[in-house]
Amino acid sequence: VGLGGGVCLDIVTISACLAGRGIAYICIPTTLIGQIDAGIGIKGAVNFGEAKNHLGCYYPPREVLIAPTFLQTLPQNRLREGFAEIIKMAIIRDLKLMDLLETYSLALIESQFRKPAAIANEILRRSILMMIEELEVNFYEDQPYERLVDFGHTFSPLLEVATLHKLSHGEAVSVDIALSTVLSGKLGLISSIHQKRILDFLKLLELPVWVPELTPSLCRKALHMAELHRGGCPNLVLPTRIGEAYFLKNADMIKDDMLETGIQLLEEVNR
Ligand SMILES: NC(=O)c1ccc[n+]([C@@H]2O[C@H](COP(=O)([O-])OP(=O)(O)OC[C@H]3O[C@@H](n4cnc5c(N)ncnc54)[C@H](O)[C@@H]3O)[C@@H](O)[C@H]2O)c1
Repeated sequence: VGLGGGVCLDIVTISACLAGRGIAYICIPTTLIGQIDAGIGIKGAVNFGEAKNHLGCYYPPREVLIAPTFLQTLPQNRLREGFAEIIKMAIIRDLKLMDLLETYSLALIESQFRKPAAIANEILRRSILMMIEELEVNFYEDQPYERLVDFGHTFSPLLEVATLHKLSHGEAVSVDIALSTVLSGKLGLISSIHQKRILDFLKLLELPVWVPELTPSLCRKALHMAELHRGGCPNLVLPTRIGEAYFLKNADMIKDDMLETGIQLLEEVNR
C-alpha cells in the first residue's frame, strides 16, 4: 500500500512492479499533487544520476483511494504547488475550472482545503475526471505522442535537476507553464489578455514564474529531450486561450531571441 505523496507513490509503484515481477498494490495519495496527478494513472519512476524520472515503469495499481481529508494537514506551500497541476488542467481544457480557481484558490489554501467544501470537492472531481479522460485513451503515452497533460512538463524536469531539487515539482511546473505561455504569445498563438490571466493567477498563488536556472540553453536541451520522448518532435503544449492548446511540432519555430526575451520578461514578472 502506497500511502503518501507523489514521491512515495512513485517508489511504491516501481517497487511493486519489480517485486516478484509484479505484485498487487493500492495507492492512497495524501497530497494535492498525489490526488489529482501522481496517484492517477499507471506510471512510477525514480531519478537516476542527474536525470529526473530516469528509471520507471507502467504498472497499474489495483485501486486508488482518494480521501480529501488528508489535505487538511498539508502545509500551505504544498497546497500551492498542487494548484500548479490543477491550473495546468484548467488552461488546456477547462475554462469553468479556471473561473473556480481564480475565485476560490486563496480561500481553499487558507482553510487547508476545507472551505468552501462544495467547491473543494468540485475542483478535485473535475481535475481527477479530466486527468483520467486524458490518460485512459493513451496509458503508454505513444498513441498518440500529442498529450495535453504534458503541458508544463517540458522544461520543468530539467529545471528540477538544475536547481538541485530546491524547486519542487509543482513550482517547476509553474515556471514551465509561464514560459510556455509567453512563448505562445511570441508565436502569436495566444492573446495578451489570456497570457496575463495565466501569469496573474500564478503570481496570485505566489508560485514562481522564473528562476535563475531558466536559461535558453536549458530550454533548448529540454526541447531536444522532448523530441526523444515524444516520437521525434517536441510536441510542446502551448496554450492558445484558456481551455485550449496547440502542439508545437518544430523546435526551430522557437528562435533564440524568443527564449531570451521571454525569459527576461518572466524575470520582470517574477519580481
Ligand atoms: N508518477 C506520476 O505520474 C507522477 C505525477 C505527478 C508527479 N509525480 C511526482 O510526484 C512528486 C511530487 O509529489 P508531491 O507534491 O506529493 O510531493 P512529495 O511526495 O514529496 O510530498 C510532499 C511532502 O508532503 C508530505 N506529506 C504528504 N502527505 C501529507 C499530508 N497529508 N500532510 C502533511 N504532509 C504530507 C510528504 O512527507 C513530503 O514531505 C514529484 O517527484 C513528481 O515527479 C509523479
